[in-house]
Amino acid sequence: MKILITGGAGFIGSHVVRLFVNKYPHYQIYNLDKLTYAGNLKNLIDVEDKPNYSFIKADIVDETHIFEVFNEHKFDAVIHLAAESHVDRSITNPNEFIMTNVIGTANLLNASRHIWGDKMDGKLFYHISTDEVYGTLGDTGMFTETTPYDPHSPYSASKASSDHIVRAYHDTYGLPTIISNCSNNYGPNQFPEKLIPLFIHNIRNKKSLPVYGKGENVRDWLYVEDHARAIDVVFHSNKLGETYNIGGHNEWKNIDLINKLCDLVDDALGQPTGSSKELITFVKDRAGHDLRYAIDATKIKNELDWEPQETVETGFRKTVQWYLDNQEWLDDVTSGDYQGYYEQQYDKR
Ligand code: NAD
Ligand code: DAU
Repeated sequence: MKILITGGAGFIGSHVVRLFVNKYPHYQIYNLDKLTYAGNLKNLIDVEDKPNYSFIKADIVDETHIFEVFNEHKFDAVIHLAAESHVDRSITNPNEFIMTNVIGTANLLNASRHIWGDKMDGKLFYHISTDEVYGTLGDTGMFTETTPYDPHSPYSASKASSDHIVRAYHDTYGLPTIISNCSNNYGPNQFPEKLIPLFIHNIRNKKSLPVYGKGENVRDWLYVEDHARAIDVVFHSNKLGETYNIGGHNEWKNIDLINKLCDLVDDALGQPTGSSKELITFVKDRAGHDLRYAIDATKIKNELDWEPQETVETGFRKTVQWYLDNQEWLDDVTSGDYQGYYEQQYDKR
């Protein structure tokens, strides 16, 4: 089976690529990525020489190039993760999100239809989405697969649009699709613009920790390898046309999570527990900031027997340790040096 994974050089994508390359040596895994600021091929150094792995540098917005790639490789399945993913960036530059997340997804759907024609048996277009499409919760309740869409940021609106288009291609053309909507991921290799890696980096460098608003927003955190395992399970489920919510049953108010992180990083650095809390600075709230996300993951548990394996204690501790042990990765990413790796490693091949 030839599987195209888009966005494989990013945070979640790199964990999915690693899992599939190592677990399924008989699958050919093609990682297609534009290598935006968020794409870092150094995330995949340990698998880049495996015989069942190839990298394709391409922009999913470039329809002509995407059709060429599909015509050449005739993929059997697509796992689509490529996206602009950071809410704050979507507020300053929404068009980038509309292009990649909406037009880019449509290009991949069209290219899949083009190569599969009416021979769709055994084919799959698996679209990776977010819980943010459901909007925000109050103090109670959880998102289920039937919660109506109500996105608020340009990021979540672009992801919601792409979900609708994927469903439309299933219903209209019979394209074999599945969608999953996941909660906030954390773990190694996340770009330090997102809360957890940014704050670990700032604590280490004694920089301020900018908490939006009063820090009362709630997120449901899932360890990235648990998400990758869920993607593996959903990919092999053959539940065409279905949607699965994926989440950690791990809700944290931002300020509580930040206090916990401060303690963990202080302990790991051998400084007095809690001392980094003096870096906490309350700043202007994010525009349109959703109050609370929480995933009801009953469907995936009951139908596909998936549950997170990592606990808060093990997952957070492991994550803090990874960033502290991989200071070079963080320096590389924050300085921009990683962006030369593709030319150095691939242009000469
Ligand atoms: P990320 O920003 O770390 O990685 C995105 C990857 O997509 C990068 O490698 C980037 O180079 C690539 N990319 C961006 N634009 C592209 C384009 N035009 N053409 C080709 N490649 C392009 O994102 P992530 O956090 O790993 O998220 C991956 C997917 O999972 C996204 O679809 C996101 O919406 C979804 N998701 C993320 C989370 C989370 O907490 N991070 C939670 C639920 C769902
Ligand atoms: O819920 C899934 C989503 O989770 C994914 O679809 C997105 O791709 C991913 O970026 C993430 O979105 P969030 O906006 O929830 O993640 P972020 O890490 O940016 O912020 C988490 C919370 O922390 C949010 O309430 C905003 C707050 N925050 C964030 C940053 C970067 C701060 O208070 N200060 C900060 O500096």
